[in-house]
Amino acid sequence: MLNIVLFGPPGAGKGTQAVFLKDAFELIHLSTGDLLRSQIAAQTELGVKAKAFIDRGELVPDQVVIDMIGTQLAENKSAKGFIFDGFPRTVEQAKALDVLMDKNNTAVSGMLALDVEKNELINRLLERGKTSGRSDDCCESVIENRISVYNEKTAPLIDFYSTQNKYYAINGMGTIDDIAARLKDTVKAL
Ligand code: AP5
Ligand code: MG
Repeated sequence: MLNIVLFGPPGAGKGTQAVFLKDAFELIHLSTGDLLRSQIAAQTELGVKAKAFIDRGELVPDQVVIDMIGTQLAENKSAKGFIFDGFPRTVEQAKALDVLMDKNNTAVSGMLALDVEKNELINRLLERGKTSGRSDDCCESVIENRISVYNEKTAPLIDFYSTQNKYYAINGMGTIDDIAARLKDTVKAL
């Protein structure tokens, strides 16, 4: 199985690039952000609770997203592999993913981390905020908080995957097509 962790700060292009990788390698795309937003749209109990965290640019509790990913893996037993987009985001989540992968007799193949300058992240998200309707794209203060949370809680995963020799830094600046080609080449070499 090919299991890719597509990593990077808010606005790095994870969702944009996941679509290309999904098609190129016939993988299932699992975005915890998208899954949470569909719970919010459906006004489920989980969605209502998650919204309070998302609106502030904070992470939802680990167990919520770990359970979501567990359910998705169980529902897609015959998949060729997965792209994890926006998951894991804490060391606890990364450890839980290893356990889930192990239970399915597979493993994370590689963590591809999109590097993008902070100004570019903010510009991309403010631009998207004009039309996305996403509460967390609304204003610079929430975007800044998402980036701070990333630096504090999520960036340490670079070390987590480096020590497993699974970390691949990808230049996330430039055109969407150029970045897609960089990612594809890296995945082919895994
Ligand atoms: P999530 O939905 O994962 O959002 P995020 O990671 O904060 O950021 P984005 O999804 O906005 O960025 P992206 O990297 O996907 O970039 P995109 O391709 O969209 O999470 C949202 C919230 O849910 C979290 O804050 C948290 O509360 C909660 N959550 C989710 N997962 C969680 C977890 N595991 N644990 C706990 N809580 C969790 O691109 C951004 C924009 O830039 C787009 O408009 C795009 O068109 C544009 N763009 C893309 N590439 C380029 C390019 N090369 N040049 C110019 N523009 C570009
Ligand atoms: Mg995204």
